[in-house]
Amino acid sequence: MQNSHSISRIAILISGSGSNLQAIIDHQKLHSDLYEIALVISNKADAYGLVRAQKANIPTMVIEHTHYNDRESFDAKLQQALEEAKIDFIVLAGFMRILTKGFTQHFLGKMINIHPSLLPKYTGLHTHQRALDSSDKEHGLSIHFVTPELDNGPVILQAVVKIDPNETETSLREKVHQQEHIAYPIVIEWFALGRLSFKDNQAWLDQKRLIQPQVLSKTII
Ligand code: GRF
Repeated sequence: MQNSHSISRIAILISGSGSNLQAIIDHQKLHSDLYEIALVISNKADAYGLVRAQKANIPTMVIEHTHYNDRESFDAKLQQALEEAKIDFIVLAGFMRILTKGFTQHFLGKMINIHPSLLPKYTGLHTHQRALDSSDKEHGLSIHFVTPELDNGPVILQAVVKIDPNETETSLREKVHQQEHIAYPIVIEWFALGRLSFKDNQAWLDQKRLIQPQVLSKTII
């Protein structure tokens, strides 16, 4: 999929507000020689992220999952759209659909997701509340390659936030979101620079296998 003769064409898949999308749009404006946001796809017509993309003159597409009988036919349509747009790399940014095994295999090593927890802790939903319920001292986010098993692909980068004694779900979500907006563009830049790859079911950075994920505060950008 990667086209070495031109800048990377990235697709961003969303379902909602798209604040991560916005952070990537802002980053791309500063690094337009590195990659292009060639397409934003939402499975929901009312996702505010679509407005953000349109304001930035990025092509958008709505593929409503409710119009498809099963996951396979929805994913087939998604795959067709991505291939027609000649996408090199897929960024899931709050895309709230479980993808089929076939789809994830097809794009293996070319699709990343951001998950609001320190994986392998708290796959799935309600991660902030679950961290609070467990009296964790720390929470955070993980950016990982997407593999067929939900939220279980090799982790590339994590960011850690401290949980304060009077923390609420809302305040914790906000803290994590702030770090997401810093972390996601970093990983996309690594990909666009050819520093990030996927091999032997592992994430690699600068030709070195990531035995442990990178951690944002310790990352030398
Ligand atoms: C983020 O918290 C992300 O970790 C999760 O979905 C949320 C999307 O937020 N996967 P936004 O739409 O980017 O604001």
